[in-house]
Amino acid sequence: MSLTRRGFARTVGLGTAGVLSSSFIIGRGREAAAFEPELADDPDDDGIIRISSNENARGPGPKAMAALHQTITTRTGRGYPPDHTNELVATIAEKYRVEEASVVVGTGSGGLLEGAVRAFCSATKPLVTAAPTYGTPDRMARQIGAPVKMVPVDGSLALDLDAMADAASGAGMVFFCNPNNPTGTAHSASAVEGFVRRVMRDSPSTKILIDEAYIDYTFDPDVKTASLLTQEFPSVFITRSFSKAHGMAGLRVGYGIGHEETLDAITTAWNLGSMNTLSAAAAIASFKDTGHIDDERRENARIRDFTLSAFRDLGFSAADSHTNHIFVDLKRPASEFRDACLEQSVRVGRDFPPMEHTHCRISLGTMEEMETAVGVFRGVLS
Ligand SMILES: Cc1ncc(COP(=O)(O)O)c(C=O)c1O
Repeated sequence: MSLTRRGFARTVGLGTAGVLSSSFIIGRGREAAAFEPELADDPDDDGIIRISSNENARGPGPKAMAALHQTITTRTGRGYPPDHTNELVATIAEKYRVEEASVVVGTGSGGLLEGAVRAFCSATKPLVTAAPTYGTPDRMARQIGAPVKMVPVDGSLALDLDAMADAASGAGMVFFCNPNNPTGTAHSASAVEGFVRRVMRDSPSTKILIDEAYIDYTFDPDVKTASLLTQEFPSVFITRSFSKAHGMAGLRVGYGIGHEETLDAITTAWNLGSMNTLSAAAAIASFKDTGHIDDERRENARIRDFTLSAFRDLGFSAADSHTNHIFVDLKRPASEFRDACLEQSVRVGRDFPPMEHTHCRISLGTMEEMETAVGVFRGVLS
């Protein structure tokens, strides 16, 4: 078992006064910083509506905030957990009905993606991923000299699962983002299962990483976690993030569920960092606060419907989104739209090749922010 799963975590410095002063800041993470640092300036930047990263404008729920406050005591000075980290692992294991050894936690799920590529891909074991999809696995594969097979999304902007399964033969790992960032599309549990069974039959040594960072946001009852498949197939594992519906991007908490040996291979390949006791305590509180996550899902859906209908009224199409962002066919380069919006203090998403000539990703802020942003979109597009 890895050190992380034993809960041996050292406390890392967290500027508590600043962090705790605002749930808004905790919810705003740094997705853009990883890919286009120039788009990732201070979340507080003067008057700019920042809907370029898939963050959570509302931040953590009240119970997570209370847990943060309650956890700051002199005990924090006894700062080398298992405090809270073991409890977080136990809480997750109980919820998914898996052994604690089947759970790994890390400082954000991004590190798990990086570690997985390092563990399972190499010069002779390609990564299979989609185009466009979340870029961390692709970037890490290139960094270590592993070939990357990018499979374009289909005409409905969904992952092309048949083509990905074909490409998986002999691959080190498949990255399957469900729901997908940036397109917002999602596959049903039966489609995921069909894909997994096919790849496991044709290429049993290939690992499959199913990234469910956004799955809390779907309202489609057919879209479900693949956690059960991880118990049947040791090569299949899922990752989840507290940065999205839980609104805790700034606290850096993510986790994976899979076979113990698979998780060990990841933590051996890559240091997932040691979770600090405040983040773990907030994550436990947030995980148990299902009422808050339901509210968050509903609020996100309300804002998503409003923003999607605004674009559709203007004559532009977008796939139905299962996430906190939408991917709109603007029939013009994303850069053109982005520059025009930024002139009016609205910052929208970066380029997502190969669709940067037509599509732009817009992350969802608060309703108030989106009402203002939609006014700007109308002016720019009409
Ligand atoms: C699909 C997907 N997976 C993983 C991550 C990483 O999230 P975190 O490291 O904050 O958990 C992101 C961040 O935006 C994402 O979009």
